[in-house]
Amino acid sequence: MAEILKVAMPKGRIYKKASALFRSAGWPIPMDVDDTRKLVIPLPEAGMEFILAKPVDVPTYVEYGVADIGIVGKDVLMEENKDVYELLDLQIARCRMSVIGLPDWTPGIRQRVATKYPNIASQYFREQGQQVEVVKLNGSIELAPLIGLADRIVDMVETGQTIKENGLVEMTTLFEITSRLIVNRVSYRMKNVEIQQLCDRLQQVILAEKTN
Ligand code: PRP
Repeated sequence: MAEILKVAMPKGRIYKKASALFRSAGWPIPMDVDDTRKLVIPLPEAGMEFILAKPVDVPTYVEYGVADIGIVGKDVLMEENKDVYELLDLQIARCRMSVIGLPDWTPGIRQRVATKYPNIASQYFREQGQQVEVVKLNGSIELAPLIGLADRIVDMVETGQTIKENGLVEMTTLFEITSRLIVNRVSYRMKNVEIQQLCDRLQQVILAEKTN
């Protein structure tokens, strides 16, 4: 009998896109989970169990093996740097990681950068040879340059609406972001057939959508 796959699914903006992909691949899974407070959703007809997680925690659940696989943005994956396999680029939730600031920004003696991604930001500015103080925030990052907490921010840009509405400009793009399928190392061996099947079916849908 096929093994049940435990899937760490990010709540929020990625869920809808990821669930649409799974449904296109033939699995009967809910389109939305916003109306439930349940955190573990058994889906026996799909041979899965969804663990609804905060996106930033998905790599942790997968690394510890409480989830066999997970779906997570490349931004979180790079920031968290966990010991997991990255198996597939799902090519959904496309956006980018950028340095953003006020239009009249000029480099000062003491530079401060606010971000939800301190590891990504620190590494980037280190590589650029720029000495900056990185301040970790948990959301509404665009506030920081507006109220003088930081000179610049490192944040995700999707439509560009947030920076536009707050009078900020995108200065440099660090990398492109899409959602990825990640896998626990032990699960990859123990549930290889199921994981490989899932991966193949998703890959087919991704390719079909690309050529359409
Ligand atoms: C993210 C990100 C930007 C915004 C970018 O925030 O931090 O603020 O989305 O999207 P846009 O380019 O389409 O405007 P999120 O909505 O995750 O909320 P947060 O501020 O709590 O991080």
